[in-house]
Amino acid sequence: MNIIEVNNLTKIYGGKLTKRKVTALDDFSLQVKEGNIFGLLGPNGAGKTTLIKVLLGIAFATHGNCKLFGKDIAEYKQKKMVGYLPENHRFPSYLTAEDVMKYFAALSGYRNSNLNGRIDELLKIVKMDQWKKVKVKKYSKGMMQRLGLAQAMLHDPKLIFLDEPTDGVDPIGRKEIREVLTNLKKDGKTIFLNSHLLSEVELVSDRVAILNKGRLLQEGSVEELTTTKETFHLELENEISDEELESKWKEFNLSRRDGKYIAPVGSVDRLNVLIDQLRAAGKFIKSVTPMKHSLEDMFISLINESEGR
Ligand SMILES: Nc1ncnc2c1ncn2[C@@H]1O[C@H](COP(=O)(O)OP(=O)(O)OP(=O)(O)O)[C@@H](O)[C@H]1O
Ligand SMILES: [Mg+2]
Repeated sequence: MNIIEVNNLTKIYGGKLTKRKVTALDDFSLQVKEGNIFGLLGPNGAGKTTLIKVLLGIAFATHGNCKLFGKDIAEYKQKKMVGYLPENHRFPSYLTAEDVMKYFAALSGYRNSNLNGRIDELLKIVKMDQWKKVKVKKYSKGMMQRLGLAQAMLHDPKLIFLDEPTDGVDPIGRKEIREVLTNLKKDGKTIFLNSHLLSEVELVSDRVAILNKGRLLQEGSVEELTTTKETFHLELENEISDEELESKWKEFNLSRRDGKYIAPVGSVDRLNVLIDQLRAAGKFIKSVTPMKHSLEDMFISLINESEGR
């Protein structure tokens, strides 16, 4: 089932009286399946936060519509099943972690006869239990993020929106947050994650979407997006000599690395031409593997392409 559905969504900031209009989201559609960790990537100003705000009803769509749990977002009841960690959030500095959690429990109308137990459990999950009685003003950025994450999970929501959850968090803290996210997934929760930390998103997300200037450039599994169909690794039973690489196979620009051959053929059609010729030449092929880019390489080339660079 699709937990999130975005249909031809456009968001233009600036009302009728404002001259300056910003198209933050530009006519795209998107679905997020139940139980997935979905990573939304994009440079600053791409529209990531705006999308979350529209989905939560904090900002309103100019065109198009969105659904959460199969129901129009205007129907507020399903919001009880949603958790949210906003970007650059601030908690009142005079509150302790425990106070913050109680404050948000009250705000969200969360009822639990064992609220203290639930708070302890969550502070433990985000490794903030030692700081329960300490005021927020003494917290580092990473601690603020972890408390924010606990707050977003408080009422045991089915769907959690996290806007830059690892912003300002050190590598160890980031790894811990990733573990929290994978555990939430194991519990069947759906997580919608905004980030510009690509390597991080690559590690946890089932699917990712790439947004630039409000336009959706790509959507797919990390595997799909990072697998090229242009360069392949070939493993052969018998060797191709250096002379042969320079003469017979020169037109394919084959090179050898770690006992495998790199074939920058450009397309699957051309790959098959190469395979036919290798077979005709008596070469025995053991494996053919498409080469992978890192998500970061893919992201940069996609953004550059969309900007005409
Ligand atoms: N309330 C607003 N009024 C007018 N323009 C806005 C408003 N909020 C955001 N924008 C503009 O909409 C565009 C998208 O902003 P948004 O905050 O959604 O991007 P983002 O991808 O979350 O960026 P970042 O990575 O910096 O958090 C930007 O050009 C921004 O300046
Ligand atoms: Mg943002």
